[in-house]
Amino acid sequence: MQLDPAQASPLEVYQYLVGIVTPRPIAWVTTLSAQGVVNLAPFSFFNLFGANPPIVVFSPTLRRDGSKKDTLRNLEHLGECVIHAATASLAEKVNLSSKEVPPEESEVALTGLTTVASVKVRPPRLVESPTALECVVRQILSFGRGPIAPNLVIAEVVMIHVAEGVLLEGGGGVDPRRLQTVARLGGNFWCRTTDLFELPRP
Ligand SMILES: Cc1cc2nc3c(=O)[nH]c(=O)nc-3n(C[C@H](O)[C@H](O)[C@H](O)COP(=O)(O)O)c2cc1C
Repeated sequence: MQLDPAQASPLEVYQYLVGIVTPRPIAWVTTLSAQGVVNLAPFSFFNLFGANPPIVVFSPTLRRDGSKKDTLRNLEHLGECVIHAATASLAEKVNLSSKEVPPEESEVALTGLTTVASVKVRPPRLVESPTALECVVRQILSFGRGPIAPNLVIAEVVMIHVAEGVLLEGGGGVDPRRLQTVARLGGNFWCRTTDLFELPRP
């Protein structure tokens, strides 16, 4: 089959693309509203784009009715967030935190998670998550106005937290066998990172 995005509905384009661009890592993001409510939501339109300076990008798209998600509103207001890794043991809570709740309600309470103050940004980080990236927004690039329109949040990582238990023995970073991230595929499919192989760089 072939699909011309210019001739198809946004939902149809979305359904094919999220099945093709896989697996997608999940940013599990805390932000703070103008009223001081801690918002928590997952975003799989997410990746790392460099380390000097360390830049990550994720996209809270517009809702089906064209309105802005709470995360985007909070970022436009405060320009700070914390991005946590989505791990296998927390997958159910990651999913639950995607529930649409009113801005005055916190998904942190909904999921029964707890937070602790961050070091360099105002939104707190999740205690239960083995990694947390404190981020400051550098730029937000918006495209289109309708449903599923992208808003690229380009953010700089200003503080990295990693639990000792997920580090590689002997140093050198994070042990994927210990962190056990999960990722997003098309539809309601997710995947684990348990089937690993190593390839030395040529
Ligand atoms: C694993 C997963 C990944 C998701 N990825 C995205 C994404 O990349 N962009 C997006 O706009 N919504 C994504 N969603 C849906 C949002 O999490 C959902 O709309 C949420 O209610 C937004 O919360 P907020 O309004 O508090 O910001 C995802 C949901 C799940 C479960």
